[in-house]
Amino acid sequence: MSGNGDPQRFLVLGGRGFIGSHLVDALLTRGHYVRCFDRPHVSPLAADHLSNPNFLLHEGDFTSEADIEAALEGCDICFHLVSTTLPNSSNIDPVFDVESNLKGSVRLLTHAVRAGVKKIIFISSGGTVYGIPQEIPIKETHPTNPICSYGITKLATEKYLGLFRELHGIECVVLRLANPFGERQRIQASQGAVAVFLGKVLRGEAIEIWGDGSVVRDYIYVADVVDAMMRSITYSGEEYVFNIGSGRGISLNQVLDSIENTTGCAARRRYLPGRSFDVPASVLNIDRAARLLNWTPKTDFDQGLDKFALWLRKQLEHSGV
Ligand SMILES: NC(=O)c1ccc[n+]([C@@H]2O[C@H](COP(=O)([O-])OP(=O)(O)OC[C@H]3O[C@@H](n4cnc5c(N)ncnc54)[C@H](O)[C@@H]3O)[C@@H](O)[C@H]2O)c1
Repeated sequence: MSGNGDPQRFLVLGGRGFIGSHLVDALLTRGHYVRCFDRPHVSPLAADHLSNPNFLLHEGDFTSEADIEAALEGCDICFHLVSTTLPNSSNIDPVFDVESNLKGSVRLLTHAVRAGVKKIIFISSGGTVYGIPQEIPIKETHPTNPICSYGITKLATEKYLGLFRELHGIECVVLRLANPFGERQRIQASQGAVAVFLGKVLRGEAIEIWGDGSVVRDYIYVADVVDAMMRSITYSGEEYVFNIGSGRGISLNQVLDSIENTTGCAARRRYLPGRSFDVPASVLNIDRAARLLNWTPKTDFDQGLDKFALWLRKQLEHSGV
């Protein structure tokens, strides 16, 4: 709800994805109007929202100027969750990354100003914008030297948000996410260690680990991510960039130990030589979000994993895998 309790009109770009679909649930639950923008024919990850009178599905392509212009019409606040690339593969074709993500995002901002959109909330990446960490946990003020194109276009988009705020007064919030996990995450993807590992353990498949499994990452349960997004709606302070993670580091070996405990199934681990581009540790400092968004994560790793495993078991049973 807005400050006076009225429902607002939201545009969620990428609203049929893993995080976006949870965000749409939360917005509809609060009585808001939601226009969900995604590619045509993306099958819903959960019970469809189409029967909700406050929900509108707007199919289109983020890289199409006409589609974005039409989607923005009449919206108060836009959540931007589209990414056409992944960190690991973005260096293969940086031109595509710039053309689709950066150009698309700047075009989005231009049309958002024209359409009178009040605020843009952008999902950036705490795992890539900083590059190799000089200190752990990483604060928002840490140097930003991404080592993949994905991180560079995320960072450049953040900067354009700041520029458009200065030039045109459009409000913005940037959430630099750590490693989200939870229900509806795809287990076939090349991103998301928790999802990929959990899927393999439940199907009795071997897990390949690059290095000795000591690589540490910051994992955050999806409901806590959505909570931070919802708090961003009413936030209007000067700082606009926030780390969103658990603030705690967990190694890949610890992730697998927890998966074994939760599922009661053994993880068949195959250790491979480490990869040069995997930084040994990445953990976010989340003090700024705690102080200014009044946000802290509520679900610890094992609790989140229990919920995710329960959901995934049902999915796998249902699909007969
Ligand atoms: N999942 C992670 O580990 C992670 C970590 C940090 C940041 N992020 C960021 O969070 C955001 C959401 O991530 P997610 O995990 O929910 O991803 P996702 O792939 O599940 O969702 C993204 C959605 O965007 C849509 N999309 C992609 N290209 C499009 C295009 N050209 N036109 C229209 N729609 C398009 C996809 O169909 C998908 O539904 C992304 O911006 C991602 O970079 C994700």
